[in-house]
Amino acid sequence: MKTIAVMTSGGDSPGMNAAIRAVVRTGLEYGLEVYGIRQGYTGLLGGDFILLGSREVSGILQRGGTILQTARNLEFKTPQGQKKGLRRLNERGIEGLVVIGGDGSLHGALALHKLGFPVVGIPASIDNDIAGTSMSIGVDTALNTIIEALDRIRDTASSHTRAFIIEVMGRSCGYLALISSILGGAEVVSTPEHEVSIENIEAALEAAYVRGKSHAIAIVAEGVSYETTDLVTALRNNPEVGFDVRLSILGHIQRGGNPSAFDRLLASRMGVHAVEVLREGQSGVMVGLGNQDLTTQSIEEVLIQPRPISESYYDLARILSR
Ligand code: ADP
Ligand code: F6P
Repeated sequence: MKTIAVMTSGGDSPGMNAAIRAVVRTGLEYGLEVYGIRQGYTGLLGGDFILLGSREVSGILQRGGTILQTARNLEFKTPQGQKKGLRRLNERGIEGLVVIGGDGSLHGALALHKLGFPVVGIPASIDNDIAGTSMSIGVDTALNTIIEALDRIRDTASSHTRAFIIEVMGRSCGYLALISSILGGAEVVSTPEHEVSIENIEAALEAAYVRGKSHAIAIVAEGVSYETTDLVTALRNNPEVGFDVRLSILGHIQRGGNPSAFDRLLASRMGVHAVEVLREGQSGVMVGLGNQDLTTQSIEEVLIQPRPISESYYDLARILSR
C-alpha cells in the first residue's frame, strides 16, 4: 500500500481534526502518501482530493470542526453513486480509505468495502449512538459543553426560583441527556429510550417545588416524541408546578469547541490504529474503544447491533435527583 485517503462525513464532532492529523502523520511514518477528501462523500464523487503533508495538519489538534469539512450526500446512498465513488478512488491510485464519521458515514464505508475497496471506519459523533465502541469521538467534549451550560443556567434558575427545561442533542440516543443529567444534577431526564411523559415531568417538578428546592432542571433529549415547547406550555398552565418555567435549547453549540483532553487522546489513538489496521490488510472494520484498549470490529456487525445505555446510569440519575 502506497497511497491512502481520509475523509470526515456526516455531522461534525470535536476531535475529528485530531483524528485526521493522526491518520496523516501515521501514514507519513510508514512512507505512505495521504490524501484528504473534502466534504465527505460529496468530495469523493466530485474528485475533491488534496495531498496532506505533516505541515498541512499542523495546529489542528486543538481545533473543533473539521479542516476537511463534512457533508451529507444523497447520491452516494445509491449503488450508482457508490460505484462512481469507487472509480474516483481508483483514478487517483488510492489503495485504502479511512472514514471518520457517524453511523450513516459507516454505512457508506461498508458499501465501498462490499465493492472490494479497503476501508476502515473511525466512530465520530457527539450522540454516542454507535455500537462497538464505548465512546465515539466528540462525546466527551459535548458533555463538557452541556454541563458548563447547566452550571450557568442553574445559577440564574436558583436566583429566580425557576424551573428550566433544557433540550440537548440526541436524535435517537439519550446518552448525552442521561449522562449530563447525572453530571449536572437535574431533577428529571427524558430520553428516546426512557421517555418520561409530559404529565410525569410536571409531577417531578411539582415534587421538587414542594420539597422546597430553589430551582429545578429537566433535561430532554431532542429525539423524544413531544416538542419541548409543548412541554413548557403544559408546565406553565399547571399552577401546581410552582416554578416559573423557561426553555433553553442548547442546539449546535454542543457540536463545536476545542476537543477535550479525552477526545484528543481518543482521536489520536484511533487515527493511528486505523492506518495500522489498513496496512495489515483489514477492511470493512471500525476501530473502537473497549475497556482500555482499542478494538476492531466488522462495520456490518456494528451497524446491526443496538447501542444500549447501561441501565445503571438510569438508576444513578433517579437516586441522585432526590
Ligand atoms: P452521520 O455519519 O453523522 O450519521 P449521516 O447519517 O447524515 O451522518 O450520513 C452521512 C453520509 O453518509 C450521508 O449523507 C450519505 O452520503 C452516507 N450514507 C448514509 N447512509 C448510507 C447508506 N445506507 N449507504 C451509503 N451511504 C450512506
Ligand atoms: O451529530 C448528530 C446530531 O448532533 C444529532 O443529535 C442531531 O439531531 C443532528 O446531529 C443535527 O444535525 P444537523 O443540524 O447537522 O442536521
